[in-house]
Amino acid sequence: MSLSPALAADLDAGRRKAAACVACHGPDGNSTNPTVPSIAGQVGIYLHWQLLLYRDKRRVDPQMAPIAAALSEADMADLAAFFAAQRPAPPAAAPDPARADTGRRLAETYHCNDCHGRDFAGREYAPRLRGLSRDYLVAQMRGFKARTRGDLDGAMTQAAQPVADADIEPLADYIGSVK
Ligand code: HEC
Ligand code: HEC
Repeated sequence: MSLSPALAADLDAGRRKAAACVACHGPDGNSTNPTVPSIAGQVGIYLHWQLLLYRDKRRVDPQMAPIAAALSEADMADLAAFFAAQRPAPPAAAPDPARADTGRRLAETYHCNDCHGRDFAGREYAPRLRGLSRDYLVAQMRGFKARTRGDLDGAMTQAAQPVADADIEPLADYIGSVK
């Protein structure tokens, strides 16, 4: 991986380059389309790595592949820094309390917060999950489990293997709505 974290990111350049992203990801990276993830306030290094994974076809998506392929490493650094610095919108709605309770217990059972941080705010290079749509979370979890969603070092692919299929939706209901 040719990531150079020392590469100086330019926020103003990132803001200009982000004009190419907001049609899908929403103004400032807060998406209202459930199949497009919000990237506002996401962990910067995570965003940068995802762009590299799309470019290198290690994460496969027909919409993001051509976009990432056209970006230079400096573009990626600027865009990651810009979106990481945007304020994430609060989650749209709280799930009903019983479902939230089930999801919270499952997240404890599977130790999801060990890597994703307190309140799923992101930690080290693991992404922020709160605020992501239920549909997107479910699709990604199924992808990790089926090994069709590529990841950087296999940590999440491995973490998804013991998760029962029936537990994925309650987890997503809860995680996306954590305040
Ligand atoms: C045509 C719509 C579209 C445009 C334009 C677009 N994206 Fe995306 N983006 C998507 C979709 C859809 C996904 C989810 C794909 C998947 O499931 O892997 C995504 C995923 C991502 C992810 C992964 C987020 C995560 O939580 O893992 C990043 C980072 C990203 N896009 C950055 C960008 C940047 C930066 C731009 C502008 C240079 C951009 N995108 C432009 C549709 C778009
Ligand atoms: C051992 C650490 C670890 C554990 C435990 C873990 N994760 Fe992850 N997770 C990661 C990392 C690292 C990534 C980023 C993967 C990549 O490089 O694309 C990730 C990515 C994700 C994503 C994709 C987010 C996005 O924006 O596309 C979801 C969803 C997710 N994890 C859910 C969970 C859930 C639910 C649990 C508990 C069942 C869990 N994770 C447990 C480390 C972990």
